[in-house]
Amino acid sequence: MRSPELLSMIREMPKAENHLHIEGSTTPRTAIKIAKRNKIDLPFASEAAILKHIEENVVDLTTFLQCDRLFNSVCLHEEDFYDVVYDIGEDASKQNIVYQELHMDYPLNGARGVPMDVYMKGCEAGRQAVKRDFGIEMVFIAAVDRTQSPEDCLSFVKQLEPYRHIIDGLGMDCDERGYPCRLHKEAFALGGEMGLFRTAHAGEDDGCQNIWEALNDLGCQRIDHGVRAIDDPALMKELADRQVMLAMCTRSNVMTGAVPELAAHPIKTFMDSGILCSVSSDDPPYIGNLLWEYQGLVDELGFGEDDILTLARNAYQYSIKGQHLLPAFDAWVKEWKAQH
Ligand code: ADE
Ligand code: ZN
Repeated sequence: MRSPELLSMIREMPKAENHLHIEGSTTPRTAIKIAKRNKIDLPFASEAAILKHIEENVVDLTTFLQCDRLFNSVCLHEEDFYDVVYDIGEDASKQNIVYQELHMDYPLNGARGVPMDVYMKGCEAGRQAVKRDFGIEMVFIAAVDRTQSPEDCLSFVKQLEPYRHIIDGLGMDCDERGYPCRLHKEAFALGGEMGLFRTAHAGEDDGCQNIWEALNDLGCQRIDHGVRAIDDPALMKELADRQVMLAMCTRSNVMTGAVPELAAHPIKTFMDSGILCSVSSDDPPYIGNLLWEYQGLVDELGFGEDDILTLARNAYQYSIKGQHLLPAFDAWVKEWKAQH
C-alpha cells in the first residue's frame, strides 16, 4: 500500500539497476543539443515536440525501436556518446542509484557508420566521468542486434575483444518475433569463452520457446523481461531451480504491449514461485525512471516494503559485479527499519 514512508524508502535507498539501454536513454533535450552540434536536421524543434511524437507513435516494440533509432541517430562522435552516458549518470545520482548495468546497443550506431572505437571511447569517458562526479559504478553489456545475421552477430562479438576491459556482459535485443535466440548460438558461445556474463531479451515480444533457447542454446545467466514464462509452468520451475534472474521492466512491458496494463503484470506470481526478479527502467525518456518503476509496483500491484526490498537486494546480489555493495545496502536497510 502506498504510504509516504514507502515512497521515501524507494527514493532514499541506495539502488542498483540491471537493465537500461544507453541508446534508449537519449533524452529529448540531449538529442536536440547534439543535433545542433552535429548540424543534423532532426525533424523536431523542441523537447515537447519529441515527447508528443513518442506519445502519438509508440504503440509496440517495433514502433518504440523506430523512435529509439531516430532520436539516437544524432550521435556520431565520442563527445555525443559521452554526453548520453553522463546524462544517465546525472539522472541516476538524483535517484540514489549507485550501481547501473547499461546495454550498449552499438549495432544501431554501427549501421549508421559510427566506428566501434569512437563509440567505445565516448561511452568509457562518460562512465569514468560519472564515477568521478557521482561515485556511480556503471557496468557495460554489449548487446547483439538479433535482427542481424548470425554471421554479423558473431563478427560483432569478435570485434569486442579489444574492448574486453570495458565490457563485462553480452546481451541481445531489438525485435524479437522472427529472430529466435538459437540463431545466435555461436555468438554467445564466443561471448562465454571471452568470459562475458550472458543475458538476452526473451519472452518480451515472443513466447516461452525463446526463453528456453536463451537458457539452453545461449547459456544465459539472466533473462531480460521473460514475461511470457508465465505461460509455461515447467519453464517457471526451471528458472527458479537454476536461479536465473529475470531483469524485468514492468512499465516498459505496458508500453510495448507485453502486458495489457501494469495491474496484470505477472511479476508477483514469479516472485511467489521462487523466481528471482529485479526491476529496471529500460528506456527512461519513454517510460519513466527507476523511482517511477518501483512506485508502479506499489500503486498497481500492491507491493509492500518487503517485496520492494527483495527486488532492490536482488539487483545487487544477482548483478554482474555489484555484490560488493551489498553490505552498504543491508546496513542502510537495517538503519531504515530501526527508524520506521
Ligand atoms: N532496446 C531498447 N529497449 C528494448 C526492449 N524493450 N526490447 C528490445 N530491445 C530494446
Ligand atoms: Zn531492454
